[in-house]
Amino acid sequence: MEASGSGLSEVNEGQGNKILVAYFSWADNAILADEVDAVASPSVIPPGNVQQLAVWVQEETGGDLFSIHVTDPYPSNWDDCLDRANQERGDNARPELVEDVENLDQYDTVFLGYPNWWYGVPMALLTFLEQNRYTFLIKRYTCSALMAPAALPTASS
Ligand SMILES: Cc1cc2nc3c(=O)[nH]c(=O)nc-3n(C[C@H](O)[C@H](O)[C@H](O)COP(=O)(O)O)c2cc1C
Repeated sequence: MEASGSGLSEVNEGQGNKILVAYFSWADNAILADEVDAVASPSVIPPGNVQQLAVWVQEETGGDLFSIHVTDPYPSNWDDCLDRANQERGDNARPELVEDVENLDQYDTVFLGYPNWWYGVPMALLTFLEQNRYTFLIKRYTCSALMAPAALPTASS
């Protein structure tokens, strides 16, 4: 994918603009089976779409990369993951995260990457945003959301 025309080449690190690319991807948050039969049972295969997108943005901007991890990983089976995500959505859950970004307030620009889960965001993204809401409010970041739907070529928004 080319950066030209994306505007990303103009958002670079340096000159008082420290960049963070924080993302949530199923593949980074799943219990991966050693041998997966993706035909018989659809399942997650790393790297995830969001991770690829996040790495691309990180490479283009020179920022830092942070993968949002939940303490209780999701099933690698598609149907089971859908069920759990649906349950969390219904419960308005805030899945616990393994760790938070160190010194979030050192950043000036934050890119947020996440997949479309049930026509919305994974609930872990809300945990991340709420956990850091005071920093987000005080710093007034330039935030860009990168949502990855099923097909990567149409992923930037
Ligand atoms: C639990 C779950 C719910 C999803 N819900 C939607 C949806 O509502 N609409 C959609 O277009 N894609 C949906 N998807 C597909 C993902 O958005 C898509 O595969 C995304 O690129 C996955 O990125 P990742 O592999 O980095 O996690 C869903 C995937 C999962 C696992």
